[in-house]
Amino acid sequence: MGDRQDVTGHYSSEGGLAGRLIEILEKSGIARAEITEASLHSVDQLHLRGRIAAEEFLDALGIRPGDKVLDVGCGLGGPSRMAAARYGADVSGIDLTTDFCDAARELNALVGLDDIRIEQGDALAMPFADDSFDRVFTLHVAMNIADKPALYREIARVLKPGGRFGLYDIVAGSSEPVHLPVPWASLPEHSHLIPAEDVEAAVIAAGFETERFEDQSALVEAYLDAQRTARQERVEKGEPEPPSGAPVIMGETFARKQKHIYRNLKEGRIAVRLGIFRLKDA
Ligand SMILES: C[S@@+](CC[C@H](N)C(=O)[O-])C[C@H]1O[C@@H](n2cnc3c(N)ncnc32)[C@H](O)[C@@H]1O
Repeated sequence: MGDRQDVTGHYSSEGGLAGRLIEILEKSGIARAEITEASLHSVDQLHLRGRIAAEEFLDALGIRPGDKVLDVGCGLGGPSRMAAARYGADVSGIDLTTDFCDAARELNALVGLDDIRIEQGDALAMPFADDSFDRVFTLHVAMNIADKPALYREIARVLKPGGRFGLYDIVAGSSEPVHLPVPWASLPEHSHLIPAEDVEAAVIAAGFETERFEDQSALVEAYLDAQRTARQERVEKGEPEPPSGAPVIMGETFARKQKHIYRNLKEGRIAVRLGIFRLKDA
């Protein structure tokens, strides 16, 4: 159980999370009544390359209108809302952290997507029947879960045969150790990174075949480089920063966490993988 409490302790905040994120948008000039699924993207995508990565990833998953889709480790529900709004999918999300589940439900209601079901629960023992979903995905979740074979077996259980599983996750790089804190962990024992090859082997062992498994580290590095340049230009011109949920979501150490992501990537201590897998027919 230690593992689970470490995760929820790391991500929990002082309540009212959705309200504080809405306030950030309001301060940037977007009135509450005008907030849409799209205007939440600057604060609700808790993974590297934010909205752009989520759109590319969900497109690659081939979601069809009406598909039953499960977002495992849904966080604030950003990718869940995107899957519902962009493809007309019938979406469920599950997350261990109660604060995130509450915020996800509130944000769903705010933008009229409250038919998305959000469950509080553990990815390793999900409250769904076998063969329930056409598509299941994880975005930046497995680095919090030590038992990856069990995670991928549980995903295979709830997915229909022939269905697709997609992952966009951080994996171990070629050097160690990882500079901490990072957005998913403050202590080494809370960060569960394994090499990409071992991730793919665990997914295949759970009954999947690989359709796509690619290193996206260079894409992420280029994105972070561009963000740094843009920030420098804003400072020089005295322009305001665009709205960001990072300080609210990651707490007061957010700047160090972001710096460490950049450094870990540049030094090859972490890598980023996108994978699309098909569950073999029984
Ligand atoms: C970095 S956030 C990513 C959130 C979301 N997928 C996104 O990309 O916006 C990681 C999420 O995984 C959740 N998580 C970690 N371990 C989990 C577990 N065993 N079961 C369910 N959720 C888990 C955390 O609570 C957190 O919301």
